[in-house]
Amino acid sequence: MYTVGIITSSDKGYKGEREDESGKLIKEIVERYNMKVERYVVLPDEKEELMNEMINMADNLNLNLVLTTGGTGFSKRDVTPEATKAVIEREASGVAEAARYYSLSITKRAMLSRAVCGIRGETVIFNLPGSKKAVREELEYIIDSLIHGIDILL
Ligand code: MTE
Repeated sequence: MYTVGIITSSDKGYKGEREDESGKLIKEIVERYNMKVERYVVLPDEKEELMNEMINMADNLNLNLVLTTGGTGFSKRDVTPEATKAVIEREASGVAEAARYYSLSITKRAMLSRAVCGIRGETVIFNLPGSKKAVREELEYIIDSLIHGIDILL
């Protein structure tokens, strides 16, 4: 059974000003695909904190998949892609391109997501946008291919 870490990047979520519905939805979806969520954190939009947690999930917990939600847009506080780029060893740009391409058929605003996907050791890291709607649309679209990628990686 593959293991998953979820990181919600949200200043408001971290301060308890907003409930993290997107993180919970990720958990629901991956569990339907028989994956196990071993760690789930809500962090502020801070590059260092996001990087440290991604490294922890990959190097210490050896999780198969790390899914982030939020912080991929144009706001000055959006730094999830920068944190991800700083920790991955190999980029898997096709996954991010596919998610964006599919999302563009639903909303033009999908072009504003700067999400990236990459591999650190034996862990795949992928950025989802922040909204629950976007999480559902993108994750349902890419998850079976992501699982195939993890099969190949191990
Ligand atoms: N992708 C899908 N599938 N559905 C959506 O509704 N919203 C977009 C985009 N990707 C959206 C989507 C919007 S409005 C933005 S601003 C960007 O994701 C970035 O979102 P984030 O800043 O919450 O990460």
